Amino acid sequence: MADTGNGAGMLAGRTILVTGCASGIGRETAGTIRRLGGRVVGVDRNEATGIVDDFVRGDLSTREGVDALVAALPHGLNGLANIAGLPPTAPAAEVVAVNLVGLKYFTEQMIDRLADGAAIVNLASLAGFGWPQAVGQIRAAAELDFDGIDAFIAAHGITNEGGRSYFFTKEALVVWTMQNRWTWRDRGIRMNAVSPGPVETPILPDFMKTLGERAAENRRVMDRPGRPDDIAPVVAFLMSDMAKWIRGANIPVDGGMSAHFLCGMHGL
Ligand SMILES: NC(=O)c1ccc[n+]([C@@H]2O[C@H](COP(=O)([O-])OP(=O)(O)OC[C@H]3O[C@@H](n4cnc5c(N)ncnc54)[C@H](O)[C@@H]3O)[C@@H](O)[C@H]2O)c1
Repeated sequence: MADTGNGAGMLAGRTILVTGCASGIGRETAGTIRRLGGRVVGVDRNEATGIVDDFVRGDLSTREGVDALVAALPHGLNGLANIAGLPPTAPAAEVVAVNLVGLKYFTEQMIDRLADGAAIVNLASLAGFGWPQAVGQIRAAAELDFDGIDAFIAAHGITNEGGRSYFFTKEALVVWTMQNRWTWRDRGIRMNAVSPGPVETPILPDFMKTLGERAAENRRVMDRPGRPDDIAPVVAFLMSDMAKWIRGANIPVDGGMSAHFLCGMHGL
């Protein structure tokens, strides 16, 4: 049995795929998994050799990119951390392609390459907090594929205004995670999400720029922005056997911000 007393060896013997491993939260998560005894296969569109045990360059924004990537990846993986993502300053269609459509398609293609008992963790966001108000748009996107993105965002007014493209992808990702609570239960494959508040990575200034006064208000309430090392251990925990009965959950890691919003919404 793994020694979980201080976390050392918690992921021993596991090989975990981390997308977005070249930067920010993905990079930190790769390092954390390795420190806990795991082996990391990293994926990114940017070079990340030296950060992970094996690196496979890939692009999650197109079907062809995902297909080529999947073909290059090994079988028998014990975990999949879907961390690659784009901020709301990227074109809206690309944000939807990478953060939602590509992530879902990639995950579905990877199921056969996962070992029984594997864990999947999706990096959502505090930006997905408002999903109950977006159920109509989320339902409409259930079968969205790469070819339909332009028409979908035009029909639903999903632009970068106020960060909507980004918020929508994270809302839909939280819901998709819940919906797949038992999809692969017969193989013991679990899926969960982690929702950070603002984290100091290269994309934080993009959020601040897009969100304007909303972001400034959050900064006044928060004690500090998050750091990648606030998030990575939670992903690692969800990858471990210690989390084996957690399924379809969305874990906020936000310094209390989602609790603050909930209390405010309910007058508490
Ligand atoms: N930083 C924050 O404040 C924050 C808050 C909540 C959630 N998140 C989420 O955390 C995840 C990681 O964000 P981060 O802050 O570390 O950003 P980051 O920009 O530092 O890292 C994102 C990584 O994803 C990779 N990537 C982007 N598009 C790709 C593609 N098409 N194919 C392959 N790789 C691609 C980038 O090359 C980069 O290495 C994202 O999903 C983001 O939405 C971030």
